[in-house]
Amino acid sequence: MSVQDDLVRLRDERFFQHPYEVFAELREDGPVRRVVLPQGVRAWLVTRYAEARAALADPRLSKDYRVVAPLFDRHREQPRGPVERGAELAAHMLNSDPPDHTRLRKLVTKAFTVRGITGLRPRVEAIAADLLDKMADQDEVDLLDAFAFPLPMTVISELLGVPADDRESFREWTKVVISPASGEEINAAAAAMWGYLTNLLAIKRAAPADDLLTALIQASEDGDRLSETELISMTFLLLLAGHETTVNLIGNGVLSLLGNPDQLALLRTDPTLISDAVDEFLRYEGPVTLATMRFTKEPITLGDTEIPKDEFVVIGLSSANHDPAQFPSPERLDITRKQPGHMAFGHGIHYCVGAPLAKLEGEVAIAALLARFPNLRLAAPQSNLTWRESNLMRGLTSLPVRLR
Ligand code: HEM
Repeated sequence: MSVQDDLVRLRDERFFQHPYEVFAELREDGPVRRVVLPQGVRAWLVTRYAEARAALADPRLSKDYRVVAPLFDRHREQPRGPVERGAELAAHMLNSDPPDHTRLRKLVTKAFTVRGITGLRPRVEAIAADLLDKMADQDEVDLLDAFAFPLPMTVISELLGVPADDRESFREWTKVVISPASGEEINAAAAAMWGYLTNLLAIKRAAPADDLLTALIQASEDGDRLSETELISMTFLLLLAGHETTVNLIGNGVLSLLGNPDQLALLRTDPTLISDAVDEFLRYEGPVTLATMRFTKEPITLGDTEIPKDEFVVIGLSSANHDPAQFPSPERLDITRKQPGHMAFGHGIHYCVGAPLAKLEGEVAIAALLARFPNLRLAAPQSNLTWRESNLMRGLTSLPVRLR
């Protein structure tokens, strides 16, 4: 980390491998810090809990992708040029303000309410059991490949109605699109994804089924409320958000437990703690490091920092979740912790629509894994593990575990 013209550069290895150390230093400096993000974008990073929560609820911070796109080039150190189909893929609720946001979100909210999701529990349990059966005759597996990825990917694909054979390609494109890959690589992956989603929706139109994609198509055709671009973009967002994050809830949660044997023993003794434990995994090692980009529609003051108009503001969700002013001894994993209000799912109008589903999946997956493998442990020292180089997502590159 180096200070240059008052800018703190977050590009280095340390930010990816040891973010909590970096965040602790930045929080000491103040609640808001000017930074250069790993993709070379200048932004204002909100590091403390109170200011982060206020910022996420502030309507003067916009997410409208039509305005964000040109601003990117102004704040990027090396302009990258447009991403193929970038604007269309970005035309979803997470990149929009009211009233568009309200209209888009309403279409899917019902499917993801706690009540709507509770009915999925038996199916999620069956998927978990099936994956664990497949692992059972091996001594060692990469838990991400064998379990943490296929579980949420299968769940969200079944909900939406995406064929099983297509899931691996989608995973590959996703990896590129959210990585700091070069412009050409991202272009190729985004174009492939666009082609795939267009085709998938054409198939659904020809053969309607009892799934969320068909429901979205019908909603758009009945009320003319979703354009074709919005429909494709919504599918992209749900598929992406529906698996990429939950993989890391499961992976990071298991790692947190294996690195804290007292907490693992506690959970094994009292499995009813699983729901609180999952909330603590989300706080302690959350899958989303930074909220997605927002920009100031007018000058705003956060803490005692004045931020001019047309600047990027990025909210450090993991930093807020490790703020000692909100969570005493934040670097300690404590599955009986009672302080509510972690922000791993964000806050305000963009609060994660999939939170009940993600929590259900996390609870079922980790409980089933612990019950099936009483001797589960890391296959190599924790210091051998590496974190993916993404400034948005916090997830391991692999998680080798021994099952016996
Ligand atoms: C939004 C985290 C799982 C769908 C968000 C946001 C966060 C988040 C932090 C807000 C981002 C921002 O304001 O910049 C997570 C985590 C998950 C998870 C940590 C897993 C542990 C899911 C799942 C779905 C989903 C399973 C499935 C449908 C969405 C959608 C939004 C969103 C559609 C946009 C909501 C809006 O703009 O109104 N998520 N998510 N997420 N998430 Fe999740």
